[in-house]
Amino acid sequence: MGILINKSENIFSLQSKNTSYVFGVDSEGLLRNLYWGSKIQDIEDFDMPILTEVSTNDPVYEITREEYPVYGSLRYKEHCLKVTFSDKSRELVYKYSGYDINDDELIIKLKDSYYDFNINLHYKVYEQYDLIERYVSIKNNSNDIIEIEKIHSGQFHIPYEGLNFSNVHGHWGAEQQRFIQKVNYGKIVIENRRGISTHNHNPYFILDKDATETTGEVFFGALKLSGNFSGIIEQTQYGETLVQMGINSHDFLMELKPKEEFVTPAIIAGYSNSGFEIMTHNLHNFAKDNILRKGLRPVLYNSWEATEFKVSCDEQIKLAEKAKEIGAELFVVDDGWFGERHGIDNGLGDWYVNRDKFPDGLDPLIKKVKDMDMMFGIWVEPEMVNPLSQLYKEHPEWIYHFETRESDTSRGQYVLNVTKKEVKEFIYNMLDNLLSTYDIDYIKWDANRPMSQTDIEKDIWYKHIEAIYDIVRELKIKHPNVLFEACASGGGRIDYGILGIFDDFWTSDNTDAYDRLFIQDSYSYIYPIKAMRAWVTDCPNFLSKRVIPMKFRYHSAMMGTLGVGCNILKFNEDEIKLSQELIKEYKEIRHIIQEGDFYRIENTSKNNYSIYQYNKDGESLLFVFLPQSLIGHRGTNIKLRGLENNSKYIIRINGEELIKSGDYLMNRGLEIKLSGDYASDIIKINKI
Ligand code: GLA
Repeated sequence: MGILINKSENIFSLQSKNTSYVFGVDSEGLLRNLYWGSKIQDIEDFDMPILTEVSTNDPVYEITREEYPVYGSLRYKEHCLKVTFSDKSRELVYKYSGYDINDDELIIKLKDSYYDFNINLHYKVYEQYDLIERYVSIKNNSNDIIEIEKIHSGQFHIPYEGLNFSNVHGHWGAEQQRFIQKVNYGKIVIENRRGISTHNHNPYFILDKDATETTGEVFFGALKLSGNFSGIIEQTQYGETLVQMGINSHDFLMELKPKEEFVTPAIIAGYSNSGFEIMTHNLHNFAKDNILRKGLRPVLYNSWEATEFKVSCDEQIKLAEKAKEIGAELFVVDDGWFGERHGIDNGLGDWYVNRDKFPDGLDPLIKKVKDMDMMFGIWVEPEMVNPLSQLYKEHPEWIYHFETRESDTSRGQYVLNVTKKEVKEFIYNMLDNLLSTYDIDYIKWDANRPMSQTDIEKDIWYKHIEAIYDIVRELKIKHPNVLFEACASGGGRIDYGILGIFDDFWTSDNTDAYDRLFIQDSYSYIYPIKAMRAWVTDCPNFLSKRVIPMKFRYHSAMMGTLGVGCNILKFNEDEIKLSQELIKEYKEIRHIIQEGDFYRIENTSKNNYSIYQYNKDGESLLFVFLPQSLIGHRGTNIKLRGLENNSKYIIRINGEELIKSGDYLMNRGLEIKLSGDYASDIIKINKI
């Protein structure tokens, strides 16, 4: 059992395979964090230190490592919760009122000392993944409305100063760029204020004590939220670093009606005493086993970069035939198939098949795709509407807007107020109808602009994404076999909130195979490979204008779930043959890629190698890339990871076979040399 309790001392320990997270209630009734780190078996070793004020200017509330600081009293630090009661009092005073245990979930019950208001802190332990999950539920038991001004999902305490904080930054076409910064005095804030997730920062924290892939302490947590989030990291005046995450309180106010309860999004958190690799494995394994739909992901063909809005039934059929010929298993028609959608400024909202483009509807295309034994997918952008559309003419009141202001367009579109019952129903019915009428296996759900002018109610920023989650959850009940891809102008919707509901991420509109190596590397720290869609596209790349050999483009995309987005009708014989070979190879190894353990391998050479390893049940793959050979033109020594010391492995490299033991491969390593620019290889290693 992952939860230990010292009842006489009111101390709780969440025990996973290798870690402990310990907190308790002190004599003042404050809930205080005592420890987070490597496993300490005996809860009796912990006691509650007496807190004394450093001075009158350093009150106890400031010093104490509270599990869930609320607003009020002599607290000036970041609070997780602030509410206004009906008498306008804004101070919360909580008292511990006991605990409950439901399976592997511990619930700490707090109650306001005056108002009929409950705060429950929930902790789940995932023992074998070395992860805990935290969230909070609050309940208004009074007969008056309570206004929530801020509600974060939890606060973590790390007993060090001078940590490194890492996350990603970016923008459209340049998502997932990892950065690391030293934490010093003051606060670091990462957030999203756009409603529709973001290409900028991502809702997670990684704090490390000079860790590498395989050494050093790492504390991390990922928030299950796709909308407006905020994360605050602060090195305090008292020798520790705290971090909290949750719903962004920017332009936020939520009413809790009498007897109503609100549950926050959860944070999945963990600790590693040996670097980032373990953090990645724990999160990936947790996602693979508990979040993601089972089964291998199909090789996809998507027509977007080939045709953009100029889709026609005949051409899509030709593309589907070619896609089949190279080995694709899923054919996806992207934007442009519906309404008067000839560019970005019309069609959104009018989800009927365009009869000029598809004179007999979608059936002839779908039949052709199915006859060839492929799956069929389609693009939608259900949260949006164009001003020129029929839907907007009929329902101008359905968009987010302020009555006295001109409504903002971005990419020529407005955002629908999906928190309105009738809008939510419209979207659900439209998709249900599409999925019931046609034999569709895959939905690519896009969202190409941020929200703005979000009406009078300030909880809409949050309620929007809840409504989207609800719609897809409902659709999946009725259409359980349909896979959903989360896209928002490329990789704008990558987070653990959407991952629990959708199945795939569109990682970025940047399909340049070299840029993708960086995007994929950063992505891999937190998110599972199986959900990382990656396409091979034409050169010169539309964004980078770079020309990269096809083999390198395939190898880069084969690191995730492979797709092809080229205009395959223009392929010459060599390109068709190479595509067939590489797609066939991908199908043979994808179980290792999508379901194995992923390793970022150190490059020891002065030459620019990028090296990644995947392991599954005695089978390993090494992906080696050399984008540009630098003067000296050196090879690299690759020390493999995760093999068995005493087992023998067969290595297939350059058409030759080597046999080496696990400890040799992990300690002495393999000497690999690639030559020229945009060289790449996939080396296969099997246990004998
Ligand atoms: C977004 C997506 C692309 C494509 C276009 C269609 O930009 O990220 O993949 O679907 O929309 O308009």
